[in-house]
Amino acid sequence: MHNDIEKILLSEQEIEAICKKIGSQITADYENKKPVLVGLLKGCIPFMSDLAKHINTHVEFAYMSVSSYHGGISSSGDVKIKLDLDISIKDRDVLIVEDIVDTGSTLSTITKMLKSRDAKSVKVVTLLDKPAGRVVEFYPDYIGKTIPKEFVVGYGLDYDEFYRNLPYVGVLKPSVYTK
Ligand code: PRP
Ligand code: MN
Ligand code: MG
Repeated sequence: MHNDIEKILLSEQEIEAICKKIGSQITADYENKKPVLVGLLKGCIPFMSDLAKHINTHVEFAYMSVSSYHGGISSSGDVKIKLDLDISIKDRDVLIVEDIVDTGSTLSTITKMLKSRDAKSVKVVTLLDKPAGRVVEFYPDYIGKTIPKEFVVGYGLDYDEFYRNLPYVGVLKPSVYTK
């Protein structure tokens, strides 16, 4: 375990089990629909990559880069589109892939935006859900694990852009962000 991590919340094995379980649900729910998986950069990368290996039907990959944190440990609520989709999603089944839903600002903004582009459907899959962090009401459609209100990093999740490459999700030692 990395020295800056207090405890592991989701091990590599647990993440693998989640990807298998949700992957088979998505396979069943989207059979013959050829959905577009819309990953929200940068946090989505490890989860989208591993989850997609367990989706056994045609899917298209697309990405958007949105940011709500602008560094630090709390969301600003101000969601910025840094990079938009390069495809039309009109009449497509869209499945947004996220690492975490915290305040709900990012996903409530992005789902509204994608629905307004006349997608046939817009759903959300997230590895982690932190309902205690909600400021804006939002309910993801597929959830890997519900976690308590702690600042987590790893497997895509960053603190000031680092720790995304950890293969597990862990709680950062408060000493790291209070110094
Ligand atoms: C983080 C995280 C989610 C979002 C969740 O992204 O990856 O996308 O915040 O927070 P919210 O529910 O409070 O909106 P961030 O803005 O840090 O960008 P990143 O994915 O590039 O780290
Ligand atoms: Mn993100
Ligand atoms: Mg971030």
